[in-house]
Amino acid sequence: YEVKQVINYIKAMNYGLERIKEFPMSLRLIKEIHKILLEGTRGRHRTPGEFKKSQNWIGPPGSTIVNATYVPPPPDMMLSLMGDLEKYFYAEDKIPDLVRIALIHAQFETIHPFLDGNGRIGRLFITFYLIWKKILAKPTLYLSFYLKKNRTAYYDLLMKIRTDGDWEQWIKFFLKGIYTTCDEAINTAHEIIKLKERLLLKIYENGITSIYAVRLLDLLFETPLVSGKNAVDVLKISPVAINQLIKKFEQIGILKEITGKQRYRKYMFKD
Ligand SMILES: Nc1ncnc2c1ncn2[C@@H]1O[C@H](COP(=O)(O)OP(=O)(O)OP(=O)(O)O)[C@@H](O)[C@H]1O
Ligand SMILES: [Mg+2]
Repeated sequence: YEVKQVINYIKAMNYGLERIKEFPMSLRLIKEIHKILLEGTRGRHRTPGEFKKSQNWIGPPGSTIVNATYVPPPPDMMLSLMGDLEKYFYAEDKIPDLVRIALIHAQFETIHPFLDGNGRIGRLFITFYLIWKKILAKPTLYLSFYLKKNRTAYYDLLMKIRTDGDWEQWIKFFLKGIYTTCDEAINTAHEIIKLKERLLLKIYENGITSIYAVRLLDLLFETPLVSGKNAVDVLKISPVAINQLIKKFEQIGILKEITGKQRYRKYMFKD
C-alpha cells in the first residue's frame, strides 16, 4: 500500500500540474486531484473527488463522534469555510507564501472537507501550491516524510491551533520541516553528483572509450533498471554495440543482471 500511495501521489501531482495550465486554482481542482490520489488505495470507497455529505470525526480506530479527538465542521458549514479558504489562495497580503501555505494546510485539516484522504491531499497541496506560486519550479519538495516522522507533534500542533489559537508553534514547526526537507534534498543531490563523478572515473580508468558509455550512465541515473532494448531505443545504437557496453558495465560492477534469463534480460544499477 505504501508504494501504491507514492505512485498515486506522483500521478495526482502530475495531473494537477497539467490541469492548472488551463484551469484556475480552485476547490474544483482539489477535488479532481483528490479523486486520482485515492484511486485504488485506502479510502477509495469513501467518495473520492467529492466533499463530505455526512459528519466526520478524527479519533483512534473505533472511536465514535462522542469520544472523538476532534470533530470538524458539519457538511453545510464546510462549504462556506472552504469557499473562504479558496479566496485566501489568492490573497494579496504581506504574508510570505511559505507561511501562507502553513496556514492553509492547518485550516484545511481543521475543516476536513473529505470523508477520507484529507491528510494525503493536504500534504500534496503544500507542494502544489508552492509550484503554483512559482516558489518551486518542480514538485521536488516532499514534506510527507517529515510530517510522518514527527506525526505526534504534527497532530498536537494542529490541535493547539484549534484549542488555543496557537498558530505560532505550528508555523515554526512547519517552516522547520520545509528547511529540513530542502536540506536533505540538497544533500541527496550532492551525493548523486558525487556518485556520477565516481562512476565516470571508473569508466575512464577501465579504458571504456565509447561515447555511448556516458549516455548509458545518464540513462541509468534516470531509470536505474534497463533492458537492452530500452537502451537501444533511447541511445539509438545497435543491439550489438549496446550488448558489448552492458557487458563491460557488468564487468566493472556498474550493472547487474537480475532476471537470470538468457533473453530479454534486465539490468539493474548497482549503486
Ligand atoms: N489527532 C489529530 N489531531 C489533529 N489533526 C489530526 C489528528 N489526527 C489526524 N489529523 C489530521 O487528519 C489527517 C488524516 O485525515 P484523513 O484520514 O482524512 O487523511 P488520510 O490521507 O486518509 O490519512 P493520513 O494523513 O494518515 O495519510 C492527518 O494527516 C492530520 O492532518
Ligand atoms: Mg484516512
